[in-house]
Amino acid sequence: MRRSLRRALGSALRWLGVKVCRRSALLVVLLWLASWLFLNGLVFVHRNMFSDFCTDDKSKEILQRVCDEYQQGVLTGDLCEDLCVAGRVEYKRCLYYENGKKVMAASWRGVPVVLKSKLENFSSYEALALLEYQDAAGGMGGEEELSPLDVVFYATLEIKNSLGLETGTNLTLPRLWGQKLKESERTYSRAELASLWALLQQEEYIFLRVLQDLTHHVAKILGSCGHFYAVEYLAAGHAWDQHIFSLEDLSLSPSPSPDSGQDRMFTLRDMVPRVALSFLEMVEHFENDFSHRLHLCDIKPENFAIRKDLTVVAIDVDMAFFEPKMRDILEQNCTSDNDCNFFDCISKCDKTKNRCGSNRKNSNLQVICEKIFRPWFSPTLLGAKAGLPLQVDLQRAVQECADFDGGEDGERRRAVRQQLQALLVELVQEDTGNQGEGQEHKMRRVHTALNF
Ligand SMILES: Nc1ncnc2c1ncn2[C@@H]1O[C@H](COP(=O)(O)OP(=O)(O)OP(=O)(O)O)[C@@H](O)[C@H]1O
Ligand SMILES: *[C@@H]1O[C@H](CO)[C@@H](O)[C@H](O)[C@H]1NC(C)=O
Ligand SMILES: *[C@@H]1O[C@H](CO)[C@@H](O)[C@H](O)[C@H]1NC(C)=O
Ligand SMILES: *[C@@H]1O[C@H](CO)[C@@H](O)[C@H](O)[C@H]1NC(C)=O
Repeated sequence: MRRSLRRALGSALRWLGVKVCRRSALLVVLLWLASWLFLNGLVFVHRNMFSDFCTDDKSKEILQRVCDEYQQGVLTGDLCEDLCVAGRVEYKRCLYYENGKKVMAASWRGVPVVLKSKLENFSSYEALALLEYQDAAGGMGGEEELSPLDVVFYATLEIKNSLGLETGTNLTLPRLWGQKLKESERTYSRAELASLWALLQQEEYIFLRVLQDLTHHVAKILGSCGHFYAVEYLAAGHAWDQHIFSLEDLSLSPSPSPDSGQDRMFTLRDMVPRVALSFLEMVEHFENDFSHRLHLCDIKPENFAIRKDLTVVAIDVDMAFFEPKMRDILEQNCTSDNDCNFFDCISKCDKTKNRCGSNRKNSNLQVICEKIFRPWFSPTLLGAKAGLPLQVDLQRAVQECADFDGGEDGERRRAVRQQLQALLVELVQEDTGNQGEGQEHKMRRVHTALNF
């Protein structure tokens, strides 16, 4: 890079040399040198300023603190033993560290995982007031007094509060907790309660926990230690290049297992319609299968990821809301429709009351069509294939799906959805038919990225 720059400059100088005298050429060189030094210095300073944020040293320091507190009996969790004693959690790299939110990649018993916490320190989470109350009440076998029912009660309150669900709706408690309750003699230790409480203060954890058993379109929670929880490692989408999802990302290190290289690989042409179908399935799930509709208000490639089997997973759920909370958010004072846009969730302004309607007017599918499908199936990205009849139909269907004006007619929306789905299925079948030759394991060239 630098060398080619110098060469370019050299030839530029030679060209200039025809007209310009030597001294000014020297001046140019000096100027160039100075600006080069300046830029390098800037990069150096920049790197050092931000190195404090997402470094391995910092990550390890944070994990060490978790383990110290585990050993002191302050916190606990099913991951702690492996993380702090058995050494079965291998730290890989830092993914994200901002405003205390810590996200890192690790490998747990050989499985790639992501460790997350909203705040880096356990002590930064609000303490469970009940524990303090118990302390004040003083002794009497103090540490293990809270009954499982109390725990469930407070946990449920916290969950409903966090998700904005009114009381009176039934919300099933995560299965794991239910199982623990069955051992009716069981009481909870202080460390367990404190850890649970820290986890319950993380909206993302609650969200994932509640949806774990209901859908496979959210990341699986694999375990926790104190305020850190582990989720499965996924291939996240990128905004900045054409590798919309790259399966390469799925292995933290070059995978040693012999079959993982071939068994799970799809070709490029396969991948796009399959991933798109999984998006459709996810939308259907979120719309109909929970007791409240789930709205995604921040739809972009970075906020979704895929598994090796190409199921789509919503990874950034900060902007996902169940219907009751969505209504609360949308109901604002307004003077025009523009006041009723909450990121990708929009409603209309009722000008007689100067109040936004509480009903969302667009849908998850519509925004996904607009922001994700449309670029995928656009003529510029499809290249030569853009003219094929199926692709033309698909482009039309995506366009119609993205069209906001048709968005309010439920009947029509359903028809558009079905047509889109049918076209995608056809595309998948066409691909399979062309190259699969009826083989069970029709695995072909190893394509690792969706760049087209
Ligand atoms: N399960 C996962 N597998 C692989 N990478 C992940 C996973 N979860 C998160 N990441 C990556 O970690 C980074 C930060 O994660 P996360 O999405 O939780 O932060 P964030 O809430 O999006 O931050 P912000 O809200 O500021 O955008 C993202 O760049 C994402 O790509
Ligand atoms: C976390 O704890 C460490 C050590 O106790 C402290 O140095 C650091 O400032 C704390 N960070 C935050 C965000 O509170
Ligand atoms: C809520 O629970 C009741 C029984 O307790 C059940 O009949 C009903 O179907 C549940 N509702 C939902 C939406 O799950
Ligand atoms: C919205 O409008 C109502 C009356 O029109 C007013 O009482 C209320 O304070 C307003 N709320 C906000 C947040 O401006």
